[in-house]
Amino acid sequence: MTPRPTVIDCDPGTDDAIALWLALASPELDVRLVTAVGGNVGLEHTLPNARAIVALAGKQVPVVGGADRPLLGRFEDAAHVHGDNGLAGVVLPEGPPAAPGLAADAIRDLLRAAAPRSVTLIGLGPATNLGLALATEPALAGRVAEIVLMTGAVGEGNATPSAEFNAWNDPEALAIVLGAGAPVTLATLEVTGQALCTPAHIAALREAGQGACLTAAARIWERVKPSRRSGGRGHEQHDACAVAWAVAPHLFRQVSVLAEVDCGPGIGRGRTAIDRWRRGGRGAEAVLLETLEAEAFFALLIARLAALP
Ligand code: RIB
Ligand code: CA
Repeated sequence: MTPRPTVIDCDPGTDDAIALWLALASPELDVRLVTAVGGNVGLEHTLPNARAIVALAGKQVPVVGGADRPLLGRFEDAAHVHGDNGLAGVVLPEGPPAAPGLAADAIRDLLRAAAPRSVTLIGLGPATNLGLALATEPALAGRVAEIVLMTGAVGEGNATPSAEFNAWNDPEALAIVLGAGAPVTLATLEVTGQALCTPAHIAALREAGQGACLTAAARIWERVKPSRRSGGRGHEQHDACAVAWAVAPHLFRQVSVLAEVDCGPGIGRGRTAIDRWRRGGRGAEAVLLETLEAEAFFALLIARLAALP
């Protein structure tokens, strides 16, 4: 098995932290670059959080800051979910300085040097950095093996009744990424809602080891409030689902669909229209992740976190 060259764009973010640790602990992925975007909290937190998360895993992966706001529209965070510092108040040891430059440029530089269809892009936040990279050099989509996005919802959103948070934050950037011409896989709220972290999972994590990353992950999990969406049963590991698809696709069932995003100003802004029956003939080809073997997912996640320093 040759590890997949991978770029992870994220807005840590409590679930981003877990997803990053899963990616960095997984031999199936060769994480070459981590980029930060404003999202769950402002870039002034997401960038240092990304640096700290990578450093705690003992990895020498460059971390580059990117967009602190969407392409259009107003930036709105989700600090009410992730805490003011983005990690539910958990403070990690500071990581090394960010690599110089901007995320979109770093992504393009990496793609320009890559072989055709060789790089996996995993988007865990608003798609602004990915959209900027692909819009300013469209031919680079040919170097991309797959774009895996935690974004969107088939039904009700979580940021608004219509829209999931990442899609809602920058629908124009998502539209660019969906239409870029690279294979796209979507982890929407319907599949991430199956990755519900409960007190039993937190106890299992605590029992699995005492490493710094595992302990930090447990502290984060213990502090994140159960979601209303789950009826208070737990909190969704949204972003780790996107990484888990790249690491263990056998845990999922998926279907081919057409997907587009509403970039209008109205109540539907950021809504992802997922056309599984191709009725309208509109939208970009995409793979929609439909089901997840949740307990196998958490067993994998916990085992990989336990393997980190
Ligand atoms: O709607 C959930 C998504 O928005 C996750 O990626 C979470 O981290 C936030 O970015
Ligand atoms: Ca995220």
